[in-house]
Amino acid sequence: MSQYPISMEVTPDVTAFFDPATNTISYVVKDPASKACAVVDSVMDIDYAAGRITSENADKIITFIQDNGLELAWQIETHVHADHLSAAPYIQEKLGGKVGVGQNITMIQDVFGKIFNEGTEFQRDGSQFDRLFKEGGVYQVGEMTCFAMHTPGHTPACMVHVMGNAAFVGDTLFMPDGGSARADFPGGCAAELYDSIQRVLALPDEMRLFMCHDYGPNGRDIQWETTVAEEKAANIHVGGGKSKDEFVKFRTERDAVLDMPKLIIPSLQVNMRAGEVPVDEHGDPMLKVPVNKI
Ligand SMILES: [Fe+2]
Repeated sequence: MSQYPISMEVTPDVTAFFDPATNTISYVVKDPASKACAVVDSVMDIDYAAGRITSENADKIITFIQDNGLELAWQIETHVHADHLSAAPYIQEKLGGKVGVGQNITMIQDVFGKIFNEGTEFQRDGSQFDRLFKEGGVYQVGEMTCFAMHTPGHTPACMVHVMGNAAFVGDTLFMPDGGSARADFPGGCAAELYDSIQRVLALPDEMRLFMCHDYGPNGRDIQWETTVAEEKAANIHVGGGKSKDEFVKFRTERDAVLDMPKLIIPSLQVNMRAGEVPVDEHGDPMLKVPVNKI
């Protein structure tokens, strides 16, 4: 861990925004020493049956940032989400700042560019984003030095972002009683996910961990914050020293019976474009449904 610029003495203010439609948690992360902030994993609302995209979730975040006089430095996408649409371009238009994602976005763009029969106008080089983070990539939110850890497994482009003593784990981990995310999407790998999770669990025990999703297992209230120590001790998939073989067997069997996320088709088309809705030959926003391809 010594290669990462970890600063446990820096405690950012983390404000969570829960979207009950997709069980996603978005965050505003404020640098304690300035007015600078970051947004992690924003959500744009979609009524897929009606083909209607709206901004209630994103507007809550924008209002919060404006009401508190904050300056948006970065929007972070922990990965290309398959269950909700990113609101990054909508928020960027209102508040500025840069949008970043893991550099392996190009792999996602390659695979899904083919599945969605995208033409040559769809760039597969990640250029829709302002920054493609490499393993260990460093950036500033005000005075706070932040860094990205490449944590493949759920998808090849997944990153965990660490800001002071807070880590935003994306879909590497769920709360201890939720376990881990699926690893069966194209480019996903259960063995890689296990290794990535071990690297997250090698962060300091007191590091606060913030989830991207929570589904309230066994009827408990929604939660999104835990610590490395709690995950190591109690995560039902990887805690208590579970072996890689045990994890891979369990994860593979479980993934085989999971349904596709309800919004995977619109989410991928939009999120692989950094949150922009694709347009048809007339310039109108339009989504496709590839048949029997996913
Ligand atoms: Fe995900």
